Amino acid sequence: MEISVVGCGYLGAVHAAAMTELGHEVVGVDVDEAKVAALSGARAPFYEPGFEALLQRTLATGRLRFTTDVTEAAGAQVHFVCVGTPQKYGEYAADLRYVEAAVESLLGVLEPGELVVGKSTVPVGTAARLAELVGEKVPGALLAWNPEFLREGFAVQDTLCPDRLVYGLPAGPDAVTAQRLLDEVYAPVVARGTPKVVTDHATAEMVKTAANSFLATKISFINAMAELCEATGADVVLLADAIGHDERIGRRFLNAGLGFGGGCLPKDIRAFMARAGELGADQALTFLKEVDAINMRRRTRMVELAREVCDGSLLGRRIAVLGAAFKPDSDDIRDSPALNVAAQLQLQGAVVRVTDPAAVANARRSWPQLDYADTPEEAAAGADAVLLLTEWSQYRALDPHAFGRVVAQKRVLDGRNALDRDGWTAAGWTYRALGRRAG
Ligand code: UGA
Repeated sequence: MEISVVGCGYLGAVHAAAMTELGHEVVGVDVDEAKVAALSGARAPFYEPGFEALLQRTLATGRLRFTTDVTEAAGAQVHFVCVGTPQKYGEYAADLRYVEAAVESLLGVLEPGELVVGKSTVPVGTAARLAELVGEKVPGALLAWNPEFLREGFAVQDTLCPDRLVYGLPAGPDAVTAQRLLDEVYAPVVARGTPKVVTDHATAEMVKTAANSFLATKISFINAMAELCEATGADVVLLADAIGHDERIGRRFLNAGLGFGGGCLPKDIRAFMARAGELGADQALTFLKEVDAINMRRRTRMVELAREVCDGSLLGRRIAVLGAAFKPDSDDIRDSPALNVAAQLQLQGAVVRVTDPAAVANARRSWPQLDYADTPEEAAAGADAVLLLTEWSQYRALDPHAFGRVVAQKRVLDGRNALDRDGWTAAGWTYRALGRRAG
């Protein structure tokens, strides 16, 4: 099939390459010339394991190209909308201007029988509104919503082998046409027996926000337990292991620590609350306010813990921060808990040095006032305390004996419950973590 993908950020760039891998002829459209140039030159504009290899492989087929000119989307049977929906400044609601602009720009090239497919995370009700606009301007053109569940760090795998497909289809006979087109797009995925949920626009939109809200709630639940563990001397890691053995609960997304950040979970739960308010159903989601508050409290608690191990004062203390990205295997620093903590420490007088295997360049751009190092050893040279805030495998694998030789004080704060506590304490470190007794 001929496919266009409008918006070539994380979601769109990976989607465009993945659709080419599935056998289609794809044009990726983005307004950012630098991004288009990088992608056209087979260079990933962001860090994502496996993406550059996929990009090189799919560009080499000659069936994938990138452009800033949306008119090149003309002739495609299916047009994916993959632009961002950030939080509005000063409000909880999502900013839909990029989605609206993307759909508007497609109106100029759309033909009857073609399908616009929204993948961006949007407030429920958006698809119905956009479908009306599309149908009005280009009679016979259709719109479906097909949310995306990819995780950064696993974007290629999640796009090529998703754990489910969700089709939010227009009502009436148009549903059959839209479903046929989507089934054709995802033919190899469908043939593999991937679970498919076929539904209406509103349900599809809500599936995405409900999924992210559930994940955020699960993380904040275990972090609330961590607060109680801190008050009682219990151990949140063992607690998570024990309750996680119950299959109804499950151990995944039950890692206590610094909590969630990134470009999705925080803004999605807020946009969901804002939308519920508009719909007069705000009470249904007031618990998400608590989820958000628990999450933000963990960052403050981490700063307090750092002060505690530095004998009550952060003034002039040298602190090494391992991790700047909001999660490992990503260079994304949007709402990064690690950088939030690093900045708070610095504002309170500490001398902070941050390192990260992939995110230093992005972090330096957004937080130029922090000091950066290329390696953990460099960051930790002469440090009074080391804080592990993003659990990259490189940091998990640090040898506490060798690492102990570069610091001034062997104090480690494990913000992700990711280090081997016994190994570090055996090497002479004072080990502290959120939700666990001092080691
Ligand atoms: C999230 C969802 O997991 C994806 O399914 C969804 O498609 C995506 O948002 C999106 O809406 O596009 P992502 O933002 O890549 O994906 O990151 P997650 O893996 O969900 O992690 C989010 C945050 O939670 C990270 O800061 C991570 O460190 C934290 N986390 C995760 C915990 O604190 N504890 C855990 O047990 C798991």
